Amino acid sequence: MKVLLVGGGAREHAMARAVKRSDDAALVVVMKHRNPGIAALADDVALLPETDVDAVVAYAKEQGCDLAVVGPEAPLEQGLADALTQAGVPTASPSAAAARIETDKRFMRELMAKHQVPGRLDHHHFDDETAALAFLDEHGPVWAIKPVGLTGGKGVQVHGDHFQDLDGAKAYVSQVFSKGTGGGAVQFEELAVGEEFTVMAFTDGTTVLPMVAVQDHKRLREGDEGPNTGGMGSYSQCDGLLPFLTQGEYEDAVLIVQALVDALRAEGCPYVGTLYGQFMLTAAGPKVIEVNARFGDPEAMNVLWLLETDYVMLLQAMVEGNLEARKVGFRPNATVVKYAVPQGYGDGTPEAGTPVTVDEAAIEALGATVFYASIEEQDGHLRTLTSRTLAVLGEGETISEAEQVAEKALEHVHGDLFVRHDIGTPAVIAKRIRNMQHILAKEA
Ligand code: AMP
Ligand code: GLY
Repeated sequence: MKVLLVGGGAREHAMARAVKRSDDAALVVVMKHRNPGIAALADDVALLPETDVDAVVAYAKEQGCDLAVVGPEAPLEQGLADALTQAGVPTASPSAAAARIETDKRFMRELMAKHQVPGRLDHHHFDDETAALAFLDEHGPVWAIKPVGLTGGKGVQVHGDHFQDLDGAKAYVSQVFSKGTGGGAVQFEELAVGEEFTVMAFTDGTTVLPMVAVQDHKRLREGDEGPNTGGMGSYSQCDGLLPFLTQGEYEDAVLIVQALVDALRAEGCPYVGTLYGQFMLTAAGPKVIEVNARFGDPEAMNVLWLLETDYVMLLQAMVEGNLEARKVGFRPNATVVKYAVPQGYGDGTPEAGTPVTVDEAAIEALGATVFYASIEEQDGHLRTLTSRTLAVLGEGETISEAEQVAEKALEHVHGDLFVRHDIGTPAVIAKRIRNMQHILAKEA
């Protein structure tokens, strides 16, 4: 079985390892930059733009791949999964039509409304700047404002966080239209108040097999300050829930994922692959903040590290449409992932070329691990590129134990890098629980 993996970040490093845990799976990889962690696992690597559909398909055919899986969303939007499937390489990632659940926020909200998927939020869409500004004049500034298309997770601005008043809201809307960000159309969404969490699932278009819940940390700095990033780190708990999330609330989120999958099938674009639901747990239960057509990054590291089921078997079952006959299991432990990023990432101009050294053996000896991301080997030395550099993962019986292991692992990473050390600490976990209690009490 020869598997093609597309993508070269830490998420794909986690996917590559999961593939290689499977007996006699060969792995070939297409990525933009040579991720040293993935390259060490791969039987062959092609350095290509991941969105160059023709080149990726030609490579898959030349390599004689039996199966493919795509990490990032941009190639999905370009129809890579469709093209690979057409070329005879079954692909456990969604078609461009199904991936609109991520790539077109208007499609996602309208699909939820049409099919009465629970977890809906009020939403208003504008292609025209004048109309969008008039809407704000009439309805005030209390919204989440989103460019409609892909922005790499950095395009959302929220009232109370990123802007405080009508002028601030209007300034952002005008900026989206003048810069053409995310397709140059905006969506205003009802503000959901609560704690965020992620539930991802494997699906063959009908059956949904959910994974353990994870909480990501989008804000750059400790105490949830600073701009939104791709995600600075994440944790999961041994029972698959989170310290502020009950079994019933988790199950509500899974029902929402199932309803989304059912809705996409009913629309004639069945969704095959990993589906990512980002939720806000509010006083009225989980609400959908965003849906992604892929694994989350960093969340993929938490769940794939714990995955006990053969990943290649799951990929096959998804493309063959027989996931119903399968079960998915996770090691019942907690995980904490912390990203190390170049100085300036998120709110400045990160400089590429910073030297980094990693003592992988010392990290593995802790029962921890390192996932490489935006980093390259040059003349035998690791050097940063401009995005998130690498992530460490600690595992333990409790989140706190896993957090301490992750911190010990970071002592074996050297270089001028920035880390949010507060992720998974007892103080931050307590704050999350208090926040949720406060929201529930206010509502009661
Ligand atoms: P996204 O890029 O859609 O994940 O959004 C980035 C962040 O903005 C999310 O992690 C949330 O914290 C926040 N956000 C997005 N949409 C909403 C919403 N409707 N209500 C409250 N917060 C939101
Ligand atoms: N962790 C958020 C994302 O992958 O979009």
